[in-house]
Amino acid sequence: MTTPTSGVAGDVKDLALAPRGKARIAWAEKDMPVLRQIRERFEREKPLAGLRISACLHVTTETANLAITLKAGGADMVLCASNPLSTQDDVAASLVADYGIPTYAIKGEDDETYYRHIATALDHQPQMTMDDGCDLVTTLHKSRPELLPNVIAGTEETTTGVIRLRSMRQNGVLRFPVLAVNDSDTKHLFDNRYGTGQSTVNAVIRATNLLLSGRTLVVAGYGWCGKGVASRAKGLGANVIVTEVDPVRAIEALMDGFRVMPMLDAARVADIVITVTGDINVLDRAHLAALKDGAVIANSGHFNDEINIPALEALATQGHQTVKDFVEEYTFADGRKVYLLAEGRLVNLAVAEGHPASVMDMSFANQALGAEYMLKSAAGLEPQVYTIPAEIDREIARLKLKAMGATIDTLTPEQEAYLSAWESGT
Ligand code: ADE
Repeated sequence: MTTPTSGVAGDVKDLALAPRGKARIAWAEKDMPVLRQIRERFEREKPLAGLRISACLHVTTETANLAITLKAGGADMVLCASNPLSTQDDVAASLVADYGIPTYAIKGEDDETYYRHIATALDHQPQMTMDDGCDLVTTLHKSRPELLPNVIAGTEETTTGVIRLRSMRQNGVLRFPVLAVNDSDTKHLFDNRYGTGQSTVNAVIRATNLLLSGRTLVVAGYGWCGKGVASRAKGLGANVIVTEVDPVRAIEALMDGFRVMPMLDAARVADIVITVTGDINVLDRAHLAALKDGAVIANSGHFNDEINIPALEALATQGHQTVKDFVEEYTFADGRKVYLLAEGRLVNLAVAEGHPASVMDMSFANQALGAEYMLKSAAGLEPQVYTIPAEIDREIARLKLKAMGATIDTLTPEQEAYLSAWESGT
């Protein structure tokens, strides 16, 4: 464990990286005007005074701005990584050295270190958890139940985490109320769609430098993330195929102009496959075995189990080797080569820098205002999964719209009366 010269605890790769991290945190801040306004109010009002928060998030420039905002609001916070490959080491260093926020995160950490960092974040005895993918909350419930009585509430960032929380609730094991930030309109409609869309395509290009134009690119899953990836890839000229299990989403994909087919058929013609389903073994052994020579496969879902990597290793009887950063070449018995990006971990954060600050501005405005809301309301809440009140969601949208320089109309009194009346007809 690092003993930083700043005197603040933490475990980061190298504190000497802090100046670069600080400059990059400031760069992201420029594109986070909503979070900035919240931070300025938090500085004055200290709504989170003394609240112990343990946050398990991707340690990026945008997350740094959230952590700084929570600290400005008076929170006593620690941060650990929510994925072994998503940490930006310079940011982690700056959080410790420049902002006095204990941070436990090293890019490329092994699973043992990843869970040790989560355990250290829990040693903080959180009164509030802030999670992305639910690893902090599940570890707390499974391994540290003695800490549960301290916890007033939590927040959860992502689709996968919210699915796990709802399962905990249904199984009667969830012990405190959690806000599903992902359910806010100002989160999933923008972060999942435009954020995942752009950052995933950016990551595939950064890793491979392939020209997407004219290539067949398969997107597995047509939720908000899949919609974003498919539309951005189409914009770059890729010939996009969507695979789905949900008939309604499959129709949406068809009507958005994409071909839809089962994965086994798609795998046979794919140049690139990107999984964004949140489910396991979406690219399973039979699909992997059907891939063409030279196919590139990547995952942008939260966990690294969407591609069956043990099956890929078993198929690669001629071995595998790293051919460039984040690109692993697997050679099958018949000589075909398949390229796995970023060990099947979420490619947009492992290879690129995650979602741009402009969308994380709204996601993290939800986190900051959500923490304030949960603290105020927790006494009246059950151990369930909650959604942020619509007024907070709309207020974030209003602030973002204003920051984007756009104005909109308001209802006239006549229109308001019309909308609330039932009597009028043709
Ligand atoms: N999830 C996706 N992109 C992110 C980012 N830039 N920062 C934190 N979490 C993210």
